[in-house]
Amino acid sequence: MPSMSKLEVKNLTFSYDNEVNVIDDISFKVDKGQFISIIGHNGSGKSTLAKLIVGLLDFNSGQIFFDNEELTKKNMNKLQTKTALVFQNPDNQFIGTTVEDDIAFGLE
Ligand SMILES: Nc1ncnc2c1ncn2[C@@H]1O[C@H](COP(=O)(O)OP(=O)(O)OP(=O)(O)O)[C@@H](O)[C@H]1O
Ligand SMILES: [Mg+2]
Repeated sequence: MPSMSKLEVKNLTFSYDNEVNVIDDISFKVDKGQFISIIGHNGSGKSTLAKLIVGLLDFNSGQIFFDNEELTKKNMNKLQTKTALVFQNPDNQFIGTTVEDDIAFGLE
């Protein structure tokens, strides 16, 4: 039986401008219960990678799997319930002035 990873990123490639690959053939697995850190210089592509994983950006090539199920346009909504992204800048995260407003915004 193949090993069951919670998240698998396979040969992921992404470019904002179709010239420079910001994400260039990246592959890794995260197993259940495992915590990982992705470290790198400013502008090396950490936030871009996170946005690709949660589906905020569309990758050019490669694959992303959650529990061995491949992320596609079709199951995007279902699989997105398995991910969450906290933005780097809190101003991009908090929209309302209260917790209630913020949670309601997502549902709207
Ligand atoms: N919306 C965008 N449009 C075009 N280029 C972008 C966009 N967002 C990021 N980039 C570029 O993509 C590259 C990777 O940026 P990214 O924000 O993913 O890096 P990072 O590792 O998160 O950096 P930091 O440590 O500063 O948070 C950089 O060259 C950046 O200028
Ligand atoms: Mg960043």
